[in-house]
Amino acid sequence: MSQSEGNIESILHESRLFEPPAPSGAPWLIDSLDEYKKLYQRSIDDPKSFWGEIADGFHWFHKWKQVVSFEAPDAKWFVGGTTNLCYNCVDKHVRDGYGDEVALVWEGEPVGKDGPEVKRFTYAELQKEISKFANVLRGLEVHRGDVVTIYMGMIPELAIAILACARIGAAHSVIFGGFSAQAIADRVEDAKSKVIVTCDGAWRRGNVVPLKENVDHAIEILKQSKKKVAAVVVRQRCKNGIEWHEERDYWWHDLVHEVDDQCECVPLDSEEMAFLLYTSGSTGKPKGIKHTVGGYMVYTATSAKYVFNLVPGEGQLYWCTADIGWITGHSYIVYGIMPNRVPTFMYEGAPNHPEADRFWDIVERHKVTQFYTAPTAIRAFMKWGDEHVTKHDLSSLQVLGTVGEPINPEAWMWYHNVVGGGECPIVDTYWQTETGGHMITPLPGATPTKPGSCTLPFFGVDAAVVDQEGKEVPANHGGLLVVRKPWPGMLRGVYGDRQRFIDTYWSTVKIDGKPVYTAGDGARRDEHGYFWIMGRIDDVINVSGHRLGTMEVESALVAHEAVVEAAVVGMPHEIKGTGIAAFCTLATGYEASDDLRDKLRAHIGEQIGAIAKPDMIRFTDSLPKTRSGKIMRRLLRSIAAGEVEVNQDTSTLEDFSVVARLQATDES
Ligand code: WT7
Repeated sequence: MSQSEGNIESILHESRLFEPPAPSGAPWLIDSLDEYKKLYQRSIDDPKSFWGEIADGFHWFHKWKQVVSFEAPDAKWFVGGTTNLCYNCVDKHVRDGYGDEVALVWEGEPVGKDGPEVKRFTYAELQKEISKFANVLRGLEVHRGDVVTIYMGMIPELAIAILACARIGAAHSVIFGGFSAQAIADRVEDAKSKVIVTCDGAWRRGNVVPLKENVDHAIEILKQSKKKVAAVVVRQRCKNGIEWHEERDYWWHDLVHEVDDQCECVPLDSEEMAFLLYTSGSTGKPKGIKHTVGGYMVYTATSAKYVFNLVPGEGQLYWCTADIGWITGHSYIVYGIMPNRVPTFMYEGAPNHPEADRFWDIVERHKVTQFYTAPTAIRAFMKWGDEHVTKHDLSSLQVLGTVGEPINPEAWMWYHNVVGGGECPIVDTYWQTETGGHMITPLPGATPTKPGSCTLPFFGVDAAVVDQEGKEVPANHGGLLVVRKPWPGMLRGVYGDRQRFIDTYWSTVKIDGKPVYTAGDGARRDEHGYFWIMGRIDDVINVSGHRLGTMEVESALVAHEAVVEAAVVGMPHEIKGTGIAAFCTLATGYEASDDLRDKLRAHIGEQIGAIAKPDMIRFTDSLPKTRSGKIMRRLLRSIAAGEVEVNQDTSTLEDFSVVARLQATDES
C-alpha cells in the first residue's frame, strides 16, 4: 500500500458529498439511496431469486436449473442453462422487431474535407455481417471451444469478429494493438490459437500502426515451435504495404464475399468459455483470464444498465473510449451494452487528433449521452486546457464514468465541472479484468458521490476490507479488499493453470476456513461505508489504467545483453498516474549512456509493447538489497519519486550502497 499511503488529497476532499442531480434525459432507473440499499440487501440475502429474476430478461435456449453453485474457488451460474452472447446482443432485438434500430455507430480517426468517416450498423445489418464472419471462421476450421486470437484496430470488424466467435461458441483472445510481436506469440502459444484476425494497419494519431507486420513477426517466432497459424486480414484505408504469405494469409473481404449471410447462434452451456483476456500478474508471463457465457452476460449487461442508466428508445448513445483490447472494451463497449438495446459508439483513434478537442467534438456531433473514460485521459484533457472542452455543446451528456485507476479528486472535480457542467453524476467504477464487470460503483441517480471514492458495492457484491486473518478492519483503516460471495461475472479460472488461479486469487485470506476472492488491491472504508481504493498490494503497477507486472518488465530488461540485473518500480506521473522507473546494473563492457537508454526502451517495446517502456532508466553499480538479498523496492520507489536523492547526474552510474546501508535495518 506504500504507493498511496500519503493520499492526503483524497482525505481532504472526503467531506464533499455530491447528491445525485435530477435526470437530464431518461428517468433514473434507481433514484434513491434507499432503493439501492433495499435492492442491494436483497441481492446479498437472496442471490438466487435476485439474479434468477434478472436472468429471466435474457434469452435462454434452455432455462437453467440452478442459479448458482459455489465451492470456493469454483462458481457456476445459471447451471444447466444454454444461451448465446451474440443472440442476446443482436438477434434478440431483430426477433423483437428492432432490426432497423441502430446498434453500433463508428467513427474513423482521419478527418478529411468532408469530416471523418462515420458508419452505422442496425441490428439486422450486424446480424448479417456477424453471420458471414462466423461462417468464414467455420470455413477456416475454427470449432466450438477453439480460441481465435484477434489483434486489430478499433474498427467495426473488431466487434463483428468477437461477436462471430460468440455466435459459434469459439472463444476469443483479443490482444491490444499496442502489444508487440513477442507478446502476440506468447499469447497465441498459450491459447493454442490457429487463427489470428488482424488488419494491414491501424490509424493512431495520424500514423499507421503496422499490425500485420507484427503478426508476421509473431508467426515467425511461433514457427520455431512448429505452430501453424492462419491470418485473416482486414484491409484498411491507410494503404499500408504488407508482405503477403499465400499459404496462410486471407483477405477478410474475399472470405466474407464467398459465404452465406445466415448462421444460427449455437446454444452454449452457461459455463462454456466465452473468452480469454490476458493480463499481467506479479509473477511470470501474463495469464489468460477465463470468462464464461451465462454469468458474464447477465452481470455485465445488468451493471451496464444500472451504472450508466441505459434505457432503450430514449435516443441515448453510449460511448466508452477504451480499446476492445482491454476488459473495459469487452464488457462496456460490446457485451454489457448491446443486450440493453442502446446504441454503442466506437471511435478508432487518438483523443488529440487532429486537435485536442476531438472527443468533445464527437460528443457534440453525435449527441453522446453516456461517456466512459479513464483518469489518465481526464488528466491529459485538464492539461491541454478547458477551452477545448468548453467550446463544445456537451449538454447531451447524462452520465460520466471513470475506470482503471483511482481518480485524484482534482481530476474528478474537473470532470464534474468542466465536462459535466456540474450537472452530470460521475460514476467511478472499480473493477478488474477478473471481475468481468463493475464491483464498487455509484449508481447515477441514487448514490451521493465523494471525489476519489468508488462509493458502494454493486448488487450481489459482498466486498469488504479485511486484515490477513479475514477480520474486517475498523473504519478508515487500510486493509485488503476481498469479495466474500460469488458474483455472476467472476473469472472461472486462469487458462491452463489451475494452481496459478488458486495461488493468485484464493490463497491470501480465509474466512471461516474458506478462501475468499482477493482482488490484490488495498482499500479502506470511511465512516459512511464508502470504499477508497489505495492501490495494488502486489508487484503490479497501474500505468495509465493498464496493468503491468514489474517482473515482466524486469525479465524483458535482463533479456538484453547489456543488463545484468534490473529492478522496476512505479513512480508518480502527472498524466499516467504511475510511470515506470527501471534501475539496471550493466554487464562489463557496457557504459551508461542516453544511447543505451534509448536502446533498452526500444528493446522493451519489442518484448512487450510501447506501454511498458520505462519513463526513467537509471544505471547503477549494484541494486540496494537487504541483508537477506531482497531488492529494496521501497527505497527504489522513494528514489524514483525524487524523495531520496542519490546522484543528480542520471546518465552516469549511481552508487546506492550508502543509502542502502542507511535503510537496510528499516526494510530487512
Ligand atoms: C486494477 C484492475 C477493469 C477496468 C480496467 C482495468 C485498478 C480499476 C479502478 C477505480 C481505483 C481502479 C485496481 C484494479 N482500478 N478501476 N475505479 N479506482 N482503482 O482493469 O487491468 O484488470 O486492472 O485497476 O487496481 O485491481 P485491469
